Amino acid sequence: MRTATVTIKPDALTHNLRQVRKLAPKSKVLAMVKANAYGHGIAVALPALQQADGIGVASFTEALEARELGWQKTIGLIEGVFSADEWQQAIDNDFSCVIHHLPQLQWALENVPDADSPTRTVWLKYNTGMNRLGFADDTIVEIAKQLHSAGYQLILTTHFANADNNEHPLNAKQIQCFSAVLAGLKQTVSADIKASLCNSAGIINFPEYHYDWVRPGIMLYGSSPVIDKRADELSLQPAMDFSARIMAMQIVKAGSAIGYGSHWLAEQDTKTALVSIGYGDGYPRVVADCAEVCVIDASSGKSYRCAIRGRVAMDMITIDISALPENIALDSRVVLWGDAPHVDEVAAYAGTIGYELLCRLSLRPERQVCSSL
Ligand SMILES: Cc1ncc(COP(=O)(O)O)c(C=O)c1O
Repeated sequence: MRTATVTIKPDALTHNLRQVRKLAPKSKVLAMVKANAYGHGIAVALPALQQADGIGVASFTEALEARELGWQKTIGLIEGVFSADEWQQAIDNDFSCVIHHLPQLQWALENVPDADSPTRTVWLKYNTGMNRLGFADDTIVEIAKQLHSAGYQLILTTHFANADNNEHPLNAKQIQCFSAVLAGLKQTVSADIKASLCNSAGIINFPEYHYDWVRPGIMLYGSSPVIDKRADELSLQPAMDFSARIMAMQIVKAGSAIGYGSHWLAEQDTKTALVSIGYGDGYPRVVADCAEVCVIDASSGKSYRCAIRGRVAMDMITIDISALPENIALDSRVVLWGDAPHVDEVAAYAGTIGYELLCRLSLRPERQVCSSL
């Protein structure tokens, strides 16, 4: 049977959440589970992340799904609601929303939930330099005042544009704007205003600015959020193992080419294996000729790195197995990403980030859950 398998490791998710707690011991944790828990599957992720104080999602559908799956703590809608109707539904379902533009402010002021409703807490988004969502410097204080007067509890929030790069000058500017406005609001509006600044990279690079809530995403899934450290250096464990199997082997004669476009030429006779994985499963086509995979020799348990040769097709890739033991078995497991190679490594070959590879797997691979591989 053709096998391409995505195996999720809940223990790794739990471990990574513990790492977040170690790094930000004084903050509450809003675990980001948007985009189906970064492609890992929200139904698997929620029990593994049950020690988080809340979860963050991007859409109403994701929020409802999390409630239906039994998540009873905070559910934060990080883009807020998209209509007055949705605001009412947010109240009905006890969601907590970002307010980032005037229509959302209006819906909130026109329809204030009861004092004990979780929707009475709003995440007020301040645009400190990302220039996507949020109120600007000249309106943020006034809007905070309006919401506070209407009875809302506020969490001032913003999002880093470059937290992955410690050296980027915009980080200091964003931090400076955020701290100054927060201090002003605490003085002029309410001492009880809370704050949330850091995503995964911020948690690592800016420990003195964790504030009341941190919002880790990618690090929960075991991928490095910063450009200067690998996931293992941060004690993060990959929560996804993506693998397939060798489906055929052959010798490609010197001077012959492999696959579509015939653009990889064998300089010498080369032993190759066909692996049942392709872009139809979500493996990136752009890594042709460069990325490596790991073949696991079932008889010895040893893992061998092999390079991809030729193009990635919809259903298969060809790898060079010249350096493997002669008796490597048909059906041997081939890891596309997991412990090795790490998804961050494949992402670098693909000119993208681990986030994208994790999120865009197709429906075809079989899904499994296990606590240890
Ligand atoms: C507002 C907000 N907070 C936190 C996160 C989590 O970011 P990361 O996955 O880099 O930790 C995201 C993700 O895009 C976000 O949009």
